[in-house]
Amino acid sequence: MLEGYLQRKAAWEILLKVSSGMYSDLALEKVLTKYKFTSLDIAFITELSFGCIRYRKLLDHWIDHISKSNHEKQPPKLRWLLHIGLYQILKMDKIPDSACINTTVEIAKNSELNKLSGVVNAILRNVTRKLKINNLPAVSMKQAERISFEESLPLWLVNEMIDWFGINETKKIASAFNKKPKIDFRINTLKTTMKESIEIFQKNNIDVGPISKLENGLVLKSKPRSIRKLPGYFEGKWLIQDRSSQWVAPLLKPIKGDKILDACAAPGTKTTHLAQLIEDDGQILAIDKSEIRLNLLKENVERLNIKSIKIIRIDATKLKDIKPEYINYFDKILIDAPCSGLGTLARNPDARWKITKDSIKQLITIQEKLLETIIPLLNKNGLLVYSTCTICPNENNLLIDKFLKKNNKLELVFEKQILPNNEDSGDGFYAAIVSYKK
Ligand SMILES: C[S@@+](CC[C@H](N)C(=O)[O-])C[C@H]1O[C@@H](n2cnc3c(N)ncnc32)[C@H](O)[C@@H]1O
Repeated sequence: MLEGYLQRKAAWEILLKVSSGMYSDLALEKVLTKYKFTSLDIAFITELSFGCIRYRKLLDHWIDHISKSNHEKQPPKLRWLLHIGLYQILKMDKIPDSACINTTVEIAKNSELNKLSGVVNAILRNVTRKLKINNLPAVSMKQAERISFEESLPLWLVNEMIDWFGINETKKIASAFNKKPKIDFRINTLKTTMKESIEIFQKNNIDVGPISKLENGLVLKSKPRSIRKLPGYFEGKWLIQDRSSQWVAPLLKPIKGDKILDACAAPGTKTTHLAQLIEDDGQILAIDKSEIRLNLLKENVERLNIKSIKIIRIDATKLKDIKPEYINYFDKILIDAPCSGLGTLARNPDARWKITKDSIKQLITIQEKLLETIIPLLNKNGLLVYSTCTICPNENNLLIDKFLKKNNKLELVFEKQILPNNEDSGDGFYAAIVSYKK
């Protein structure tokens, strides 16, 4: 067996699962449980498989350029295997072309693509030849098309982004969507301190560093490895939370004794942050309509050993009617709304191929309904934060504008859009603070 064969085969299996509709992180987890890989292997497999998913458009473009049949006409298994070989040739500089080609051909030979192994070999060799004479497939393109092609993003999305942010910002965001996302921790100050956490990581030869402007945030600097194997995980000393997301719960200025509603709470990243900020002393009602996601919330609450959170499975838009005692009841409300997730494309490599303009429209209807039905639960001196992890203005500032125009007793206290436009920015996030006019 060629060196690195199993790792590449595992990456191909991940692509096959994702192409049948599975989320990329779940596909990665499922495939990895079949094998015994080192943490270096896992880093390689993640980079290769997630890179292939992100750069699907670019890789397909190469197939169309080189092969006799268009990528859509290729047997899907062959298309995904070609992606494995192509991505290594085009994007993984340290791997010699021969290793990229030979391992891919070997996978074909040992699979049902056996009869097509010659085709795999010919296409990949042809690509390396074209690259040597700099015969790139892109011809004359408009700017939007070029970004769409080079950064492998759907053209509709690039056009929208240019409308929203202009060409220069779009280029920066598009490029950041293809960078490896950072792994950030939020230290659970109910159980430990930043100082103690840094010491424990260091003792275990894990390099971490502070995150600018975040009191309890650390970034992993060592190579990524299984999260559960990191020291302190089972003791609930930290949880994984992107730096932009860590910025949301403090906007509510939570204090001890607060009555807080987290209306879209699962899996609890922000709910547990709220509990931490009130020193676990107050009432937090965490609701969500997804049972599966609420189970994750329960796990997090137990692991972090938090007592102030009460969990109920309910559709938030119905809470007011089912529990009228909550009208005007809460001091603080967080609506971390379901959204298109357009701020998290670096983290979710398959998302760019799933989100559509229509799916965004449907989400906007839900977001508007959540705001309208939940605002009556806020007491007159309270604060409501509406947040999303998208960069689409129609789900963010434009939606809040429209909501405030309809509800003239309310006002905007603050709003901010974080754009994922460089390696340190973290995910794209939006948040608005709303209160009753004084
Ligand atoms: C962005 S996620 C929330 C993430 C969570 N706040 C955190 O920080 O871990 C949005 C959540 O809204 C939930 N959701 C969607 N529609 C809902 C509704 N009508 N009522 C309650 N929850 C809803 C989804 O199940 C999902 O868990």
